[in-house]
Amino acid sequence: MTDTTTAPAAQPAQPQFSGPFRAGERVQLTGPKGKLNSVTLQAGSSFHTHRGVIDHDGIIGLPDGSVIANSVGVEYLVLRPLLIDFVMSMPRGAAIIYPKDAAQILAQADIFPGASVVEAGVGSGALSLWLLRAIGPTGFLSSFERRDEFADVARANVTAFNGGTPDNWSITVGDLTDALPETHEPQSVDRVVLDMLAPWECIEPVAEALKPGGVVICYVATVTQLSRVVEMIRSTGLFTNPQPAETMIRTWHVEGLAVRPDHRMIGHTGFLVSARRLAPGAELPELKRRASKSDFLDEDVEAWTPGALGERGISPKSLRKRVRDANATATARLGTSAEEATGADQTGDDLAEDLADDVDA
Ligand SMILES: C[S@@+](CC[C@H](N)C(=O)[O-])C[C@H]1O[C@@H](n2cnc3c(N)ncnc32)[C@H](O)[C@@H]1O
Repeated sequence: MTDTTTAPAAQPAQPQFSGPFRAGERVQLTGPKGKLNSVTLQAGSSFHTHRGVIDHDGIIGLPDGSVIANSVGVEYLVLRPLLIDFVMSMPRGAAIIYPKDAAQILAQADIFPGASVVEAGVGSGALSLWLLRAIGPTGFLSSFERRDEFADVARANVTAFNGGTPDNWSITVGDLTDALPETHEPQSVDRVVLDMLAPWECIEPVAEALKPGGVVICYVATVTQLSRVVEMIRSTGLFTNPQPAETMIRTWHVEGLAVRPDHRMIGHTGFLVSARRLAPGAELPELKRRASKSDFLDEDVEAWTPGALGERGISPKSLRKRVRDANATATARLGTSAEEATGADQTGDDLAEDLADDVDA
């Protein structure tokens, strides 16, 4: 399939969220078998498949969500891609943060319109796109990436989605540990997001750059990284107690009476750990690290008794019967009584009495 251009390239369009399709915008075509293709609309251009041709001019001016037939009558659904569609299909240098984790980052780190946010590493720019959207035009995103070629991929992706490089975004190529103190005054940053192999190496400069009450959030893939970054944040004494979490999304199949979770899901992406910067000189009050008697009262323990859980107690009589039944089964299989076979010196009735006493207690 090809997207041929027969007219001069149109200027990239600013991202547009609604209204009729315009030249210069990217749209997503869904064919009869659900196959997706993205094209940039240009007057006079056409989209060719082995099953016919769609003229861009036939799409320009249509409302979002239209269905259009190609030259041989095959129908295509035309939609303006959502950010989630763009992120999942854009070229990748490094592994991206998945939308489920990006959403949690925005919530847990409280990314707000107008915020000054630092992000490292920038990788493919997936998270940068979510952050830019959340901070809006009055915020500023400073992204750091130590590999030149990844910075190029991210720049291209962010520019492609936004129809230009946003004025409120910078990428610095370098290691965050050195570059952050060189580019940001102490206590000047609202939020810091770290997605890198060794975030613990950056915690001290991050603490220096964050405003009091500011949030650091780290995304790590393994439990060993999680443990190391949590202990590092704690050991500085400059943050609140770090909050580790992971997010799972289970999609569902819903068709008629066949309503069930999908057979496949994304099992693991990563963990998030967030903490807030304490005010200079503030000391975190001693945290209770061990459960004390006051953490579980007698009423709590009582709540777990069989009675409280709705399990019916067993009477001594019925217990004696069960012991007799079990013995009878054992005798039938062994050809001798269970007491003889096991050398037990208690009779079944003695055992039942003991068990019943235990249950009553
Ligand atoms: C997994 S990728 C980030 C992906 C990105 N968050 C996204 O959603 O597309 C991790 C990146 O961190 C960069 N990196 C690792 N340590 C760094 C550091 N100390 N300073 C700056 N960048 C770093 C790596 O080069 C890599 O590109």
